[in-house]
Amino acid sequence: MKILVVGSGGREHAICWKLAQSPKVTELYCAPGNGGIAGVAKCVDVKATDVEGMVCWAKDNAVDFVVVAPDDPLAMGMVDALEEAGIPAFGPRKNAAIVEASKAFSKELMKKYHIPTAKYETFTELEAVLDYIDRQGAPIVVKADGLALGKGVTVAATEDEAKLAAAEMMGGRKFGDAGCTLVIEECMTGPEVTVLAFVDGEHISPMPASQDHKRAYTGNKGPNTGGMGAISPPPQYTPEIAKRCMEEIFLPTVAALKAEGRPFKGVLYFGLMLTPDGPKVIEYNARFGDPECQAVLSLLDSDLLDIMLACRAGTLDQLDIRWKQEAACCLVLASGGYPLGYKKGYPISGLEEAEKTAVVFHAGTKLENGQYLTNGGRVLGVTATAPTLDEAIERAYAAGSRISFTDMHFRTDIGHAF
Ligand code: AMP
Ligand code: GLY
Repeated sequence: MKILVVGSGGREHAICWKLAQSPKVTELYCAPGNGGIAGVAKCVDVKATDVEGMVCWAKDNAVDFVVVAPDDPLAMGMVDALEEAGIPAFGPRKNAAIVEASKAFSKELMKKYHIPTAKYETFTELEAVLDYIDRQGAPIVVKADGLALGKGVTVAATEDEAKLAAAEMMGGRKFGDAGCTLVIEECMTGPEVTVLAFVDGEHISPMPASQDHKRAYTGNKGPNTGGMGAISPPPQYTPEIAKRCMEEIFLPTVAALKAEGRPFKGVLYFGLMLTPDGPKVIEYNARFGDPECQAVLSLLDSDLLDIMLACRAGTLDQLDIRWKQEAACCLVLASGGYPLGYKKGYPISGLEEAEKTAVVFHAGTKLENGQYLTNGGRVLGVTATAPTLDEAIERAYAAGSRISFTDMHFRTDIGHAF
């Protein structure tokens, strides 16, 4: 089959790497891809958010199946557009991708179907927000309703911090329209865990749990990023908690979306907090997490294309999905300064050495005259598997230490931060 993957980050590299192992995949394309992805797929010069361009390219090139990986094209309805043009696609339709695109929508869904989450109120007037913050006190969480590159959330320790964040999002339009509606939430405590799950509209098959490291610096300090590293599975996610999550969160969410006439097909991302009162949902995403995807897919023992086709066909319950009984660690090597300002274009050395003991997924690189150059904030995701989590972490760091580029930055506590 001729497959097209949409996106250009480490997540898309991992998806391409896994799909390339499928005997059914005869041709693999990625739009727009990156320097490293070009090693496993042919890169296509169409932007991930160019819905019309993507449909045209897929049609003109007789693509059999398109995998839409990032949040923006999903929220824009790329899967709907592809399917309407007769091209089968993996990922939720727009009316289901809304679980990520609108926090207000997902909070309401959880309330209606009694799915555990933080208590909240939704606002469209700044005055009312400030009042509410006064009445609730701190700590308190301020969230922009729409997509804000994972940066639209402030966990405020004081009322002043909360009010400032609300004023910037709503009055200052820091995130544009995404901040016109704000969700103000109770502050939860406990370790955070991600569970990615394959969903076919009706059935759900959770992958091994994972854990992202969102803050930029070691010790969970500094600004939030897209994610500085991931492990799978995190020790906090015990079989008892997994059972509770399945009964109280995963199955009810899939049933709720179906009941609302928004059946979800694709990868549903559960951002969970393991609070003293039990597991609760922080957020849903409508896709694989990045870098969780890199860690989790490196543990998959089955054919990813088969699973994706079953999600679309509604036959996930007939598949036996196998996972390596091992652990994985993805260490992100970033550009100095990320997530704020950083420079690009530095040569990367040591990749071949690192690849002897780990898989190096490229997040922001380009290939020029045979030399890989840095080309983004997150540059590489060095991913290792091993029989135990400690060994996987050690292997990822050992391989990562072979790699260097100017101003390279990484956290030294991936897997030991929580
Ligand atoms: P989100 O974009 O919703 O995943 O939020 C980003 C980060 O903010 C999460 O990973 C949590 O660390 C934190 N966060 C979000 N909501 C809450 C909450 N209600 N209580 C405590 N922390 C939260
Ligand atoms: N790693 C967090 C996310 O992909 O949203």
